[in-house]
Amino acid sequence: MSKNNNQILQQRKGIILAGGSGTRLSPVTRGVCKQLLPIYDKPMIYYPLSVIMLSGVRQIAIITTPEDRESFTRLLGDGSQWGLSFEYLVQDRPEGLAHAYILAEEFLDGSPSIMALGDNIFFGPGLTTLLLEYNNVQSGAVIFGYQVNDPKRFGVIEFDQSGHVKSIEEKPQHPKSNYAITGLYMMDASAPSRAKKVKPSQRGELEITCLLNTYLEEQNLFLQKFNRGFAWLDTGTHESMLDASNFVRTIQTQQGFIVGSPEEVAFRHGWISEKDLHASIENQIKSEYGKNLLKIVPGS
Ligand code: G1P
Repeated sequence: MSKNNNQILQQRKGIILAGGSGTRLSPVTRGVCKQLLPIYDKPMIYYPLSVIMLSGVRQIAIITTPEDRESFTRLLGDGSQWGLSFEYLVQDRPEGLAHAYILAEEFLDGSPSIMALGDNIFFGPGLTTLLLEYNNVQSGAVIFGYQVNDPKRFGVIEFDQSGHVKSIEEKPQHPKSNYAITGLYMMDASAPSRAKKVKPSQRGELEITCLLNTYLEEQNLFLQKFNRGFAWLDTGTHESMLDASNFVRTIQTQQGFIVGSPEEVAFRHGWISEKDLHASIENQIKSEYGKNLLKIVPGS
């Protein structure tokens, strides 16, 4: 990696959006918020957190509801155990994904960003390389598309043969393609000021597609498709949570990899030492997650 690249990596900051009321999972989410629920052996938020970490970003804002802030802090602390620094931001009510950029404006302080939704899981070959490549994009926004059977449930991307985005629409009745916009967004430093200009939609939210459209109008919206063999799971329903848990279990037991481990990413990036890793394992050795971490200890 070139020196120049390293400088850019330090600048980009991360956002994890873990607000929302989780009504689709009621009554489970009456006592615990969605992003703290387990996907197999670890809390849901570990997965998007690991993706942001894979991109080399270490300063991360976590957006929560006022009620859940304490639970997130108890789970994740200040991030230093993984060589990170976390800032917690409170969203009083669900105001849409684009609203996250308004909340995070001060935190971002003029930096480009990568935002992941707290209930999205990404797993597949080449993810780290892709994310690191896009870190170089200092102007514009990058969205990641994934082919789905039921595009009506998502933001949908229309694109030409060379992959240039022609239009994006939020949950359209008549989708123009089978490609959904996944919950991972890279945007340049102008995202907060653009978000402020977005008008609330019919459901009263600042839609991310409206924010992305401002980049599209300037021909500054880039699409990266995740292809066959890549897994994207949006874990907003009981069924998809179960699917995701089974998926993670299959990969972990068949292949021996850990999916979505902040300890592993931090260790591989050199953000924590082998001693730190051992301490973390010791703390959780009674759990399957802790035991799995032993596999990343060098020489094991
Ligand atoms: C949101 C976005 C949508 C995107 C989806 C990915 O939808 O608005 O564009 O495709 O996340 O998970 P929501 O899950 O808020 O309905």
